[in-house]
Amino acid sequence: MLFFTNAEITLSLVTFFIVLLITKKIWRRGKLPPGPWGMPILGNILQIGELPHMTFLKMKEKYGDVFRLKLGIVPVVVVSGLETIKKVLLKQGEQFASRPKLYTFSLINDGTSLAFSEQFGDAWKIHKKIAKMSLKEFSKSSRSSSYFSIFEELMSSQSEAFVETLLKNSEKGYFDPSQDITYTVASIICALCYGKHYGHDDQEFLGIIQLTVDAQKASGSAAPADFIPILRFFPLSGVRTLLRAIDKFNNFTKKHVEEHHGSYEKGHIRDITDALIYLCNRKKVEDKLFALSDAQIVSTVNDMFGAGYDTISSAVQWSFLYLIKYPEVQDKIHKEIDEIIGTSRSPRFDDRKDLHYTEAFINEVLRHSSFVPLTIPHCTIRDTNLNGYFIPKDTSVFINMYQVNHDQTVWRDADLFIPERFLDESGRVDKSLIEKVFIFGMGVRKCLGEDVARNEMFIFLTSILQHLKLEKEPEHHVDLTPVFGLTMKPKPYTLRTENRL
Ligand code: HEM
Repeated sequence: MLFFTNAEITLSLVTFFIVLLITKKIWRRGKLPPGPWGMPILGNILQIGELPHMTFLKMKEKYGDVFRLKLGIVPVVVVSGLETIKKVLLKQGEQFASRPKLYTFSLINDGTSLAFSEQFGDAWKIHKKIAKMSLKEFSKSSRSSSYFSIFEELMSSQSEAFVETLLKNSEKGYFDPSQDITYTVASIICALCYGKHYGHDDQEFLGIIQLTVDAQKASGSAAPADFIPILRFFPLSGVRTLLRAIDKFNNFTKKHVEEHHGSYEKGHIRDITDALIYLCNRKKVEDKLFALSDAQIVSTVNDMFGAGYDTISSAVQWSFLYLIKYPEVQDKIHKEIDEIIGTSRSPRFDDRKDLHYTEAFINEVLRHSSFVPLTIPHCTIRDTNLNGYFIPKDTSVFINMYQVNHDQTVWRDADLFIPERFLDESGRVDKSLIEKVFIFGMGVRKCLGEDVARNEMFIFLTSILQHLKLEKEPEHHVDLTPVFGLTMKPKPYTLRTENRL
């Protein structure tokens, strides 16, 4: 016969109820997503490889649409599959709409960045709305009856100059076009943001390009400090270089914003900075609470510069690569331009609706290359559930856009480059298919610059192909393997241009 004291019985009962409560809570909130085992401190960092989106593709096969990793000490959930992604970005969009508290993100514009700040809430929503309106306001601003807008005029003149540069470089034989692409795209975004037209040999302009190169390199080497905090204190982490580059860039934009305040004329919008000043002045009158501060205007212009520079530069680099890899595709675009635009005038934004094959090509470049393979990381703002799994508050969430663009259940022969897949039987672009190309994100965090980007790519490509034929070196294999980054670049390649006119 066993005897228990009152104290023992009470202790057993309390323990029993505590275990019951914990089990009930775990049961109610559901289980965590599955995922690979990681090492202490490093987590799964060493398993990610050089092309994380491809590793995630393989992991999806094993673990499903929702799986969990640890990058250093940071828990990350990776989401794939269009329907599951729609739940995250559309259906439960707000719950997944923040950005993770990453160290490098917090350095960008002192944590006030529209794109990277963890401050998601009503003030952020207004910030994004104003930024969106400023792009719209600028995009329709015009100063000449010959062009639809300042933006169209700028694209036209810059593309013509770019044709000349490409022809001149070809005189020496095959060359790497990446620097010319970068310089042209940088001078376009400078004109869009600051209204300033820099020559490619201007020292201030070259300084800015150097800053972006420094910032990119430094953020690459500082990134491990996001996941293993102790690395922040090591000089190797690139943090100081990154901070210096960000600081210099901020001062550059600040100077332009101050100048704009002095020269701004109501009703005469010259660039994105003017559009932001105009909207903030209007907002201040309409609603005193909801205008942006000068520091926020500076950080918004910085965001637009950052987002509109590297992405478009990559898009043009990829487009050229596909054009030299598939000369028969290039022939078809030439034919379409010759028939619809001809040679006596420059391409216009309005031509987009008539150049179906060219539009199909642009969309196939975006889909096939998926050069922005993952969205900027998202983060949960509260405990939530996804496909029956429990995702705690403050979990970083990676969305694999590459997987959707290469999903065989969405795209037949997904790994082949076939612009015709976007055309219907009458040769017109099927808009419902274009909407499935997933490279600008979706929902609350969707890219602000999709229209700007699509217009820019269109004018670049049609202006160049109106005048030029691009050719690869004979016997050279064109390699489509990307170099990983927030935006992926092709490996260095060479080409030559020939005048068609
Ligand atoms: C082909 C070119 C471009 C691509 C592929 C692209 C793609 C993206 C992607 C994937 C995101 C993140 C979405 C997410 O986190 O869920 C993003 C955000 C953003 N993009 Fe773009 N983008 C491009 C060009 C541009 C341009 C030209 C601008 C502005 C002039 C721009 C402005 C922004 C801004 C401000 C954000 C932050 C939005 C937010 O955090 O809510 N982008 N873009």
